[in-house]
Amino acid sequence: MKQRIENSGSFSFHYPGAPIIVTAKHGLKENAMTAVWHCPLSFSPSLYGIALSSRRFTCQLILDSKEFGVNFMPLEKVELVAAVGGSRGAEIDKFEKFKLAKEKPLKTSVPVLKDACATYECRLHDHRTYGDHELLVGEVVAVHYEKDAFTERGLNLQAVNALLYLGGDNYGTPAKDVFQHWDRQAYGKKS
Ligand SMILES: Cc1cc2nc3c(=O)[nH]c(=O)nc-3n(C[C@H](O)[C@H](O)[C@H](O)COP(=O)(O)O)c2cc1C
Repeated sequence: MKQRIENSGSFSFHYPGAPIIVTAKHGLKENAMTAVWHCPLSFSPSLYGIALSSRRFTCQLILDSKEFGVNFMPLEKVELVAAVGGSRGAEIDKFEKFKLAKEKPLKTSVPVLKDACATYECRLHDHRTYGDHELLVGEVVAVHYEKDAFTERGLNLQAVNALLYLGGDNYGTPAKDVFQHWDRQAYGKKS
């Protein structure tokens, strides 16, 4: 039975979503935090948006450095996702504490996480305040990805366990055999 409420309630009806780890570096300080409010915005140029509360230490690092990294994580790294989403970079060095392995960035200074299935290096293109969050829009200037993790159709679920966030502190992974190919042209023509 459908419930009807005014306003947004717990504001978690849009989940599941993929939790990412946003990375940033300014001067000698680097940091990582979890975000589930993120979205592709344009093909050409390739723009990617993340919504961060201005209270996040990472947000300030991005506004200062004008760069950020978007790291897509597999299920196996869920503990890391919870850890960097439950700790403050203003107080600790998360890279040291959680032993975050890094790889060299191509075009920016942002930390590229070794355990990510894919990473976007972004240069800040625009930012705007919406309510209590900043929408930070980055142009994707370089991509790193695990070759086996992707096919021309996207994520290869035979090789990767996708990580999904359900709200609260709950995570999971989709069953592999529930994914099928539904041709949009064929179905769009159906009368
Ligand atoms: C699953 C998950 C998703 C989150 N999504 C966001 C988000 O989209 N935007 C945001 O500002 N904070 C989000 N957070 C909270 C930040 O990750 C958290 O406040 C973190 O401690 C910020 O770190 P920092 O202060 O070092 O930047 C999320 C946390 C978790 C666990």
